[in-house]
Amino acid sequence: TEGMNAQDLGKILHRSPAEIIKKLFMLGVMINQNQSLDKDTIELLATDYGIDAKEKVEVDVSDIDKMFEDEQNNTKHLVKRTPVVTVMGHVDHGKTTLLDKLRHSHVTEHEAGGITQEIGAYQVHYNDNLITFLDTPGHAAFTEMRARGANITDITVLVVAADDGVMPQTVEAIHHAQAAKTPIIVAVNKIDKPGANPDKVTEELAKYNLIPEDWGGDTIFVKISAKFGKNLDELLDMILLQAEMMELKANLDQNAAGSVVEARLDQGKGPVATVLVQQGTLHVGDPIVVGNTFGRVRTMTNENGRRIKTATPSTPVEITGLNEVPEAGDRFVVFDDEKTARAAGEARAKRAQDKERQKTSHVTLDNLFATM
Ligand code: GTP
Ligand code: MG
Repeated sequence: TEGMNAQDLGKILHRSPAEIIKKLFMLGVMINQNQSLDKDTIELLATDYGIDAKEKVEVDVSDIDKMFEDEQNNTKHLVKRTPVVTVMGHVDHGKTTLLDKLRHSHVTEHEAGGITQEIGAYQVHYNDNLITFLDTPGHAAFTEMRARGANITDITVLVVAADDGVMPQTVEAIHHAQAAKTPIIVAVNKIDKPGANPDKVTEELAKYNLIPEDWGGDTIFVKISAKFGKNLDELLDMILLQAEMMELKANLDQNAAGSVVEARLDQGKGPVATVLVQQGTLHVGDPIVVGNTFGRVRTMTNENGRRIKTATPSTPVEITGLNEVPEAGDRFVVFDDEKTARAAGEARAKRAQDKERQKTSHVTLDNLFATM
């Protein structure tokens, strides 16, 4: 803490330098922005914020984005994991039809009857493999994640209706996938329709550097009819082939980390979040920080509404037990103990509040002292 000034301290406490100066002013200590603060002053300030100064300065547990990265970059004990696939495309080109068809034809018999709820993410069993599909790409989560440069998708399936061709949202989807560097598999849909012209789709997509192998490119194209279930196995084969090439791996043994797909407030259950586990294994009872909220995983429910106790990477689950409703796209990280999780969650909530406040108050040194 040698040579720490208001700005440095502000960073640690997630407060603006002006706020630090104002706070100290109210505590009877007059400092300027660049002045190096002594230990007593720092402790005085920290105590006033209700923080143990030493602990707080040493570990910034509130930086879960960093923790998430660390967990992601952990390369120990890696095992193969299920691919996470997002289906994207223009309105009415058949995304939902495709997902519904896959879901009904490829979930196990025993699960099929159990489908009771839509959680926006689910898994398909195919030839002893699992594939995780994320539903409705218009999802707030995707917009959020894009904005944050985060990505939870391994592969994008781009659905283009053969009777309609490349449309604005098709192009948007291509840009998202390319920006996120996710491989694209093109599903040329509605080939059953009289007006279908798959070659025209291929021509149009060449402009976006999506060129099939038989045209000299390296993009996988599959001609399907989602409605009639035509060539869907071929599509799944191609997804698995692509996944195989990507050598997707994860570590099951570490604290879980992942992202929120969607979240809501349930009248009975309280805050409910559908999360995708991306690293480690999530357990019921885990102390967890999710975005700016925290809690302990009280219940975990799979896509079929069945209670489960653990969730491994690429598994979407609905969790309860959070203090507040997180946001789609938020990251989560599991902590070793509830006390730290709470501290991190509260620090993050405070930081978010401060950001909110700063947006409206525009505190500067000038107007600060003018109001005093
Ligand atoms: P949004 O969610 O609104 O973006 O649309 P979507 O892409 O999910 O399209 P959806 O699956 O709702 O399909 C739109 C319409 O196209 C529905 O009436 C489907 O029945 C029809 N449709 C989808 N796939 C096929 C197909 O392979 N062949 C034919 N003939 N119709 C299809
Ligand atoms: Mg749809």
